[in-house]
Amino acid sequence: MRTHTVISESTADTESWAGNLAGLLQPGDVLALDGDLGAGKTAFVAGVAKALGVKGQVASPTFTLLRDHEAGEKRIALYHFDAYRISGAEEWYELGFDEYLAEGGVAAIEWAERIAKTLPPETIWINLEWLDENRRRITISWSDDRPFHECFTN
Ligand SMILES: Nc1ncnc2c1ncn2[C@@H]1O[C@H](COP(=O)(O)OP(=O)(O)OP(=O)(O)O)[C@@H](O)[C@H]1O
Ligand SMILES: [Mg+2]
Repeated sequence: MRTHTVISESTADTESWAGNLAGLLQPGDVLALDGDLGAGKTAFVAGVAKALGVKGQVASPTFTLLRDHEAGEKRIALYHFDAYRISGAEEWYELGFDEYLAEGGVAAIEWAERIAKTLPPETIWINLEWLDENRRRITISWSDDRPFHECFTN
């Protein structure tokens, strides 16, 4: 497992770094986001979505279980999940996570620690930690040889 930690000074930092990371994503990747309320999980997904050119709005989906974006310019669909209200693995599977993944898009999952046991070992983890109003500590952990650490610079 590789890991890299940076401090984001603004929402714009986080979104642009997420966009850089999107450039390294491949169909079938799972992006697991964790961090408290307001940490920036949705902001990060918005940056990924923008870079992938997916159509549709990325809202904070706390009350939505699934947002399904049509494939954009890069032809990689983004499946935006939120496990905040998921009771456990059984409900998660009922939601159809496996089927969506099999479609070949990228899955981004907020509150992913709640269903961590169900995720593939090659999952890319993004942890966001609130430091103050505009600063967040971002830690990315991944297991292949892609240079994700290079994404987190302006
Ligand atoms: N450096 C930063 N990185 C990301 N977001 C930041 C940063 N600084 C300030 N913010 C703000 O913090 C808020 C993060 O909200 P966001 O909805 O992305 O959090 P979340 O982790 O998805 O919360 P929830 O658990 O409710 O889904 C946004 O209003 C964003 O503009
Ligand atoms: Mg959110």
